[in-house]
Amino acid sequence: MAGFPTRRLRRLRQNPTLRRMLGGARLSMQEMICPLFVTFGQGVRRPIESLPGHFQISVDAAVETARDWAGKGVQAVLLFGIPQHKDACGSGACDPQGPVQQLVSRLKKDLPDLLVITDVCLCDYTDHGHCGLLKTARDGALEVGNDRTLEVLAKIAVSHAQAGADVVAPSAMMDGQVAAIRQSLDQSGLADTAIMSYTVKFASCFYQPFRDAADCAPKFGDRTGYQMDFRTAGQAVAEARQDIEEGADMIMVKPAGPYLDIIARVRQSTDAPLAAYQVSGEYSAIKAAAAAGWLNERSAAVESLTAIKRAGADLIITYFAPQLGAWI
Ligand code: PBG
Repeated sequence: MAGFPTRRLRRLRQNPTLRRMLGGARLSMQEMICPLFVTFGQGVRRPIESLPGHFQISVDAAVETARDWAGKGVQAVLLFGIPQHKDACGSGACDPQGPVQQLVSRLKKDLPDLLVITDVCLCDYTDHGHCGLLKTARDGALEVGNDRTLEVLAKIAVSHAQAGADVVAPSAMMDGQVAAIRQSLDQSGLADTAIMSYTVKFASCFYQPFRDAADCAPKFGDRTGYQMDFRTAGQAVAEARQDIEEGADMIMVKPAGPYLDIIARVRQSTDAPLAAYQVSGEYSAIKAAAAAGWLNERSAAVESLTAIKRAGADLIITYFAPQLGAWI
């Protein structure tokens, strides 16, 4: 009796109104966060070739860009800094006059309703391009030292929070980074600053356009010693549990589109607010295919982002955010 021809699932698909009513996952601008690359200088707005529509922007011009995005419904920006000088310790990252710190305070003054999130990592600031400080391993090779990096990450987070950041987002994938940052924030009288942790971050080829944008490709080796292996699903829930125990207010899965199974798993394992990051390569792939006439840009963007929502993300970080308001 339950089978065809009595039961016809297409009955629910005949009427466009009913289809919409039963739609389920719906995108809203309320949950959209847009990355922004801020650099030194004045009046700079340098196009990023592999991220069409995005720029390396100096502080003055970035305020205008953020204002434009906010007018289009973007709720939050995620700031990445490009310093004037890089060195082995990434010392530019803590500079109170650095592009990120300056932009944070300008944004909180000029656009108080725009939520300001800052990426906390070393790879944009180190000359070797790794996400932490190096040390010599037992076999003589250089490797990223976990515990010595924690102190620097905590300092960076405090400097962002002192500039006025609402949320700091550690992305270095060092064990214990959330606890180290929480402790330093609290000891510095910054208990109200929230942490969005890049909890489940895979070593992914989809970050390549970002590495052009931030000029942060590792000069030797790769990030597989600290970012997660893309073949492995099992550690995702363990990472999420640990970050929440360490004090993360929000957690993140990244990349998003190729990792919908991971988003769904993490969603089932916790009630903590969950963000997903549709990374640079996911965006650029759609942009390039659309430019070639092989995909409809709007449809591909809306479908890929809706799938991320359907998988269980509460918040979405996407380079499409400024365009999306006109599409949904
Ligand atoms: C820094 C960082 C990266 C991204 C976000 N934070 C690069 C990386 O890990 O190599 C990638 C974001 C994107 O591709 O859009 N650690």
